[in-house]
Amino acid sequence: MHLMRLQIQYFRNLAKVDFEPVAGVNLITGLNASGKTSLLEAIYYLSHLRSFRTHQITDLINRQATQLQLVAKIHTNSHHQIPLGILRSRNKLEVRANHQPVKRVADIAALFPVIAIHPDSYKLITGGPSYRRQYLDWGVFHVEHNFFAIWQRYKKALQQRNAALKSKQNNEYCALWDHELVDMAVRIDQMRDGYMNALYPYLQALIQRFFKDQDVELSYKRGWSEESDLKVLFKSELYRDRMRGFTQYGPHRAELLIRVDGQSAQTGISRGQQKTLVALLRLAQAQHFTESTGRSCILLYDDLAAELDARHRREILAVLVKMKIQLFLTAIEAEQIDLSGWETKKMFHVEQGQLKDLI
Ligand SMILES: Nc1ncnc2c1ncn2[C@@H]1O[C@H](COP(=O)(O)OP(=O)(O)O)[C@@H](O)[C@H]1O
Ligand SMILES: [Mg+2]
Repeated sequence: MHLMRLQIQYFRNLAKVDFEPVAGVNLITGLNASGKTSLLEAIYYLSHLRSFRTHQITDLINRQATQLQLVAKIHTNSHHQIPLGILRSRNKLEVRANHQPVKRVADIAALFPVIAIHPDSYKLITGGPSYRRQYLDWGVFHVEHNFFAIWQRYKKALQQRNAALKSKQNNEYCALWDHELVDMAVRIDQMRDGYMNALYPYLQALIQRFFKDQDVELSYKRGWSEESDLKVLFKSELYRDRMRGFTQYGPHRAELLIRVDGQSAQTGISRGQQKTLVALLRLAQAQHFTESTGRSCILLYDDLAAELDARHRREILAVLVKMKIQLFLTAIEAEQIDLSGWETKKMFHVEQGQLKDLI
């Protein structure tokens, strides 16, 4: 799977851009504030319908315009080409894939899987557990086809239970959703656990290469104790859940604990090490995706040179070149990134929102 063409209108400072990347590596250079990150953000937006930098849609729409538009041509693995289009104004979103309206983010995400590594990515380690659940669930979603539907059912039941708890309904009423919740929770946990086990070898191989002298440990916590039965826990916690006004235990509280030499990666390692580790987490995910689905995903790596020192940069490029997926890299200067390992490559230059092909 790769992006063949992306026509951008009024996405941040990219007023009008016609972008024709290659299936291999694409390096986008330009000075600060020229629009490099915005270009990657537009690709990411096409897959996730949200940005990795902001939750505010008004940040993304060009200040001179009232709506942004992205029109893409995607080469899918079955040798098909699919047009994908997004029109977004302040209060309206229209998504089309293959000329048909798309109703759910999940459909577009499945069609166009994109992973990003960017200067804020270290939050995957330093931020709250929801960052790590999102990481985990991106992978589960792409390998387990019913994960999305099961998660939706869980979420819906959880919202109803929490509403009942909050409004201090009686015990019987609050327990109405327990059966559905437990049923979905067990399946979510199995899928997440299975995914972590499948991902682990990829991660281990990368970690051994980059953290040679350190012991990096990842453990998945399902959101309720390993010894407890969730159904029993819902019952025994009901009183306290009603006091709290929400459900304390369940897969919505799952966590991925990351420890380095026995210490939490949140506080025990440097920012530079956190950035390297996050890059490895994402790369492992991309590798596992490619090998387990037989499809490939797209990887965006913003500011690679600024994120890593020269040695790690070389090592990461050596990993990337073996992955055979479509890559989008940004740098201020082309010299910062050695593309000699790639056969299929193209360089672009952005200047004040204008994109040029470089030969
Ligand atoms: N909604 C917007 N409309 C117009 N310009 C914007 C908008 N949002 C951001 N910008 C501007 O776009 C420029 C490009 O930003 P960015 O993509 O982060 O550049 P780079 O990654 O090349 O440093 C910045 O000057 C920023 O101020
Ligand atoms: Mg940038």
